[in-house]
Amino acid sequence: QQVYVGVDLGGTSIKVGLCNEQGKLLLTDEGPTGTEHGADVVLENIAQYVRKLVAESDYTWDQVAGIGAGIAGFMDISEGFVKLSPNLGWRNVPVKKILEEKLGKSVKIDNDANVAALGEAWAGAGAGIPNIVCYTLGTGVGGGIIIRGRIYQGFSGMAGELGHMAIVPDLEAIDCGCGKKGCLETVSSATGIIRMAKEAVERGESTSLALVENIMAKDVFDAAKTGDETALRIINRAALYLGKSMATVSVILNPQRFIVGGGVSKAGDILFDAIRKHYREHTQETAQEGVDIVPAVLGNDAGVVGAAGLNLRG
Ligand code: BGC
Ligand code: NA
Ligand code: ZN
Repeated sequence: QQVYVGVDLGGTSIKVGLCNEQGKLLLTDEGPTGTEHGADVVLENIAQYVRKLVAESDYTWDQVAGIGAGIAGFMDISEGFVKLSPNLGWRNVPVKKILEEKLGKSVKIDNDANVAALGEAWAGAGAGIPNIVCYTLGTGVGGGIIIRGRIYQGFSGMAGELGHMAIVPDLEAIDCGCGKKGCLETVSSATGIIRMAKEAVERGESTSLALVENIMAKDVFDAAKTGDETALRIINRAALYLGKSMATVSVILNPQRFIVGGGVSKAGDILFDAIRKHYREHTQETAQEGVDIVPAVLGNDAGVVGAAGLNLRG
């Protein structure tokens, strides 16, 4: 039997997983990236996690039929480069070549959110649905477009960078990590939600968030659940631009399902109800028929499952 290794490289942790040919996750491991020590150290850490994972599994190294890695940032998939990763602080790192040298097996790389979308398409909320669009709401906002079961890359691999959809009106737009202004990510990521909460507290709004020392996105959701108006307004704003962006994606791609994952999606109904409301308000009724917006089901595992899947369905 053959197995596949998936690597999910985030800003703070490396996750590795072993999957069978059906996308079933057999074993995982996780640890710190060592990002502060630079790309060489991170890549060596990845190689060690992969070897350790396989050694601890019931499978031999020879049974590993492919290795895939999902990385946050703009990619050159064909050359196996990370062109730019603001979150990792990387520019032009030849990840594929380095990992192949270290591991002696072929390695495929792709954008973290593309890979998470592939995971959901393969074994999660998109199983059996050919055309889906996924959003991952975390430090940034990632996107992945799956068409006929495969990742849609676009001309140069930039397709699906939904977090950088220029959607906030100029008068309200703020700077994004990508160097532009008004991106979806500036409002609908965990970072954006935290920023809006801190600004509200600084303005002196009467909100329970003023009592929280180091505000996290979860604090904003917890406050919203108790009816805190500031928190509700912030979540509504994050949901407004997500819903509008889905309305926009709808008229371009007409996917059957939108899947929303990442840490922020754990907010649950309070977030999803608001996203659906704004999506409906901005999408013509006929275009809404048969389309739904659902939470991701693989949670934190979507990345490793999809990365493993790169070798089968990438
Ligand atoms: C990056 C994407 C990434 C997303 C989620 C964005 O800022 O541009 O490449 O997928 O964050 O990590
Ligand atoms: Na993407
Ligand atoms: Zn941007």
